[in-house]
Amino acid sequence: MRVNWRWSVCSVVLLCVPYSSAILLKTNPEENAPEQIHLSWSGNPTEMYVTWATPRASAVSSVRFGMDNKTLTSNISGESTTFVDGAVAHKVRYIHRATMQYLQPGNRYYYQVGSDAGWSDVYSFRSIRNGSDWSPRLLVYGDMGAVNARSLQQMTKEVLEDRYDLVLHVGDFAYDLPTRNGDVGDEFLRNLEPLAANIPYMTVVGNHEEKFNFSHYKNRFTCPGDSEGMFYSIDVGPLHITVISTEFYFFLRYGVQQIYNQFYWLGNDLQKAAAKDSNAWIFVAGHRPLYCSNPDIVDCNPKGNIFRKGIPLLMIPGIEDLLYESGVDVGIWAHEHSYERTWPVYDLKVLNGSASEPYTDPEGIVHIITGSAGCQENHTRFNPHPYDFSAFHTTDYGFTRMTVHNRTHLQFEQVSDDKNYVVVDSVWVKKTSPGRPVWYREKKRKQLLEEMERIRNYDRFNGPLVRSRARYGHPRKPAQQDPKKPQRL
Ligand SMILES: [Fe+2]
Repeated sequence: MRVNWRWSVCSVVLLCVPYSSAILLKTNPEENAPEQIHLSWSGNPTEMYVTWATPRASAVSSVRFGMDNKTLTSNISGESTTFVDGAVAHKVRYIHRATMQYLQPGNRYYYQVGSDAGWSDVYSFRSIRNGSDWSPRLLVYGDMGAVNARSLQQMTKEVLEDRYDLVLHVGDFAYDLPTRNGDVGDEFLRNLEPLAANIPYMTVVGNHEEKFNFSHYKNRFTCPGDSEGMFYSIDVGPLHITVISTEFYFFLRYGVQQIYNQFYWLGNDLQKAAAKDSNAWIFVAGHRPLYCSNPDIVDCNPKGNIFRKGIPLLMIPGIEDLLYESGVDVGIWAHEHSYERTWPVYDLKVLNGSASEPYTDPEGIVHIITGSAGCQENHTRFNPHPYDFSAFHTTDYGFTRMTVHNRTHLQFEQVSDDKNYVVVDSVWVKKTSPGRPVWYREKKRKQLLEEMERIRNYDRFNGPLVRSRARYGHPRKPAQQDPKKPQRL
């Protein structure tokens, strides 16, 4: 196995940064000590999920927490599940989950997890602030492995410096979570713990999680909602983030119905988000991009992108119309091991706000593809002749900072690991007045919702999806009656 020298350096650095709580208590490390500890957010500012693993079963899953790191006065019990890997060895892991409750929004908390058989270090996090009148700071990246996690050291440092409110990992973990009976997933989550135990770490499912029907992803992470983390949404200040699975479209052996379920849910989620005045911005995050300029004939084929345009043969609708008509501002993707920013775009057309200020009142969705955090598959190169929608790209390893400054201004910055963490791309997206973008159309949105109702109730062979069949290019003619055949009365 390759030695990750960067991570060795990182371990030393972490002892020196101001917010590191790794220097605090740890008891009974020789016993059934918790490991792979990571936080995630329920969507409620008074709550925070914490998830961890133990090598052996434990009857107790406890969390001690409080606002003073020396007296963790609150104690709450969680639950554990037995997770059996799908490979032949059927390796067993014990996954523990608990929800810290009654938090004061926007305050720093300290916590440790475990039981009398072993307690973790004390970690800390800042609870999410309440309301919409504040400026969320997001750390966003995708495609990071247990090996060659090039950006992890710097990202952990910046998290411990309290530079972010939330992390969004946009799919493809560990390479892969199930590899070597899941041992690679364990190694990845141990490496990640200094980062993910100190900040809500939100996840998006990617293609590398597919094995055993995404069971490692579903079991190892904790997300809001009831879709086992495949799709969910949260409101963070003035920002609504909707997370979806692009992988439903690419692994049809697990069923087509889940595409319809997600599509219907997504339409309603975006409708509710657009109706809330507090949601000044709407981001949608999924793993595979709608637009990209890499030589990837499956995912970067502008006209053949099945996630964007659907699968007409199976009467599966593409996602772009729904995002566009629902007034989504920004699409966040990964999968390509590089960074790319598009111009505002819809249906392959560049729709800049103006020639001089393309990102002021954009008339299309701005897409950020950020899959360069580092993994053993290294970089993805670019097509030497980028498409018209491509505004900027780089193959440097790195990660993206996204700051929603207020209801009319947001900023993206791409940090290069290769160039000593300088910002290699920076752009502001602006609205002259808050609210839905200019293309948001109520009538069109209602039509899409009606269509979604038909999709949800769709009967594949005799269903009422007549309009959708026409819309997606394969109108089905009514079956011809055989005049000689007796008709059933
Ligand atoms: Fe991927």
